[in-house]
Amino acid sequence: MDGDYIIALDQGTTSTRSILFDTEGNIVKIFQKELTQYYPRTGWVEHDPMEIIKHQKETLQRLFDETNIQPNQVKAIGITNQRETTVVWDKVTGKPIYNAIVWLDNRSKAFCEQLKTEGFEDYVRENTGLVIDAYFSATKLHWILNNVPGAKEKAEAGELLFGTIDSWLIYNLTTEKNHLTDHTNASRTMLYNCKKLQWDEMLLKQFNIPKTMLPSVQTSSSFFGDVLINGTTIPIYGVAGDQQAALFGQGGFKSGIAKNTYGTGCFMLLNTGDKFVSLKNGLLTTIACSLPDQNIHYAVEGSIFIGGACIQWLRDKLNIIKEAQETETICNSIPPLEDVYVVPAFAGLGAPYWDAKAKGAIYGLTLDSGKAEIIKATVEALAYQTKDVLWAMQEEEGIKLKKLQVDGGASANGYLMQFQADILNVPVEKPKMIEVTALGAAFLAGIKAGIWRIEDISKLKMTETIYSPKMSTETRDKKYAGWKKAVERTREI
Ligand code: G3P
Repeated sequence: MDGDYIIALDQGTTSTRSILFDTEGNIVKIFQKELTQYYPRTGWVEHDPMEIIKHQKETLQRLFDETNIQPNQVKAIGITNQRETTVVWDKVTGKPIYNAIVWLDNRSKAFCEQLKTEGFEDYVRENTGLVIDAYFSATKLHWILNNVPGAKEKAEAGELLFGTIDSWLIYNLTTEKNHLTDHTNASRTMLYNCKKLQWDEMLLKQFNIPKTMLPSVQTSSSFFGDVLINGTTIPIYGVAGDQQAALFGQGGFKSGIAKNTYGTGCFMLLNTGDKFVSLKNGLLTTIACSLPDQNIHYAVEGSIFIGGACIQWLRDKLNIIKEAQETETICNSIPPLEDVYVVPAFAGLGAPYWDAKAKGAIYGLTLDSGKAEIIKATVEALAYQTKDVLWAMQEEEGIKLKKLQVDGGASANGYLMQFQADILNVPVEKPKMIEVTALGAAFLAGIKAGIWRIEDISKLKMTETIYSPKMSTETRDKKYAGWKKAVERTREI
């Protein structure tokens, strides 16, 4: 095969992938491996960091073993990753001292409550753009340092390194063993001052975290090190957290563009330009992207913890579907009876509620309700949660969205997309290629490699379907009021 290529490494919550793109932004080949999820206690979620590296290396190598592409045809690698997930490793051996504590893990929720009681909320919001929650890396890192025997002493002696998954991959894949991260990932740690663009001294002191543990922070489209493949080195030229990469892949490097990604969770991000503004109403300010010779852009984010994960719950825990694709037909086939609501607060509730204590619940069951109604209500929960976030954006920012650009696995479900447009009363636009997260990472790398210019991106990304709202205002209001009631009841239990 002729031509130049770019590889995206997409290390997500449930799988690890290596994807080969051509210069038109088309996927040439993709290899994927499922990632083992560990739930050692209620509310705890862990990954094996060594499994992540093994799967990433295996899938990357297969791109060359199972195609005719030579490493010298690949101009750059871009990394995108599940954010916030925390790894601590030994500087000498390179081995992790504990499993990766996953973003969904809320073992540090009591510590977060304590921080709120001590009055840190305003400082955290005004300097990191975040709310105090177990979701972010800071309290996970604090937990490791205080619970793994000897960790604190080793950290103080400068013998341990911390990283989110991007840093862990860069350290393990580069010949230089670089300890780096990018602005977008740093902005999710609750340790990074997003106004000053540096690690926050006050927060490091508060969490007792030695600065020597932290990676250096770079522009998302810059050189992160070389990966050696079959005797040839390929530079890592792009790194971004998966939600920011998706925003970038959707063309969201300009202010006013919003996207919603339906992955394990569900994350709506709106680029708000180059001014840092801290928000109330349960929304986050996060770094949207950083490009060479350009001002950093910020985004408003609504983070929903359980998105596609609740479809997996239907499959793996309730065993009422065999695969996610079935849900669309089921949703379309049942008559509209009374509304059933599934509130998937399986890891508490994220934006805009930030209620770590909330638990999942089903409301509105009658003798008519069966498996199909529960499936439909679970699918609809993704749309209702997105409406909660958009509602907060409208309240907080006075934002009036003209359209919502979507991507991620569940955006393939036509019923969900139509229901999303109906319940938001905003057109929903789905691109032809829904692997926008990986495409965003490839774009960041390709820009630094000189393959693309930023203005090329919109040309490469093509819209496939537009779902226009059809639901009457009366029905929409009634349904959404039912959802709000269900959420409130869930929080009371
Ligand atoms: O903040 C968590 C997020 O990065 C996880 O993304 O794609 O695994 O749902 P995903």
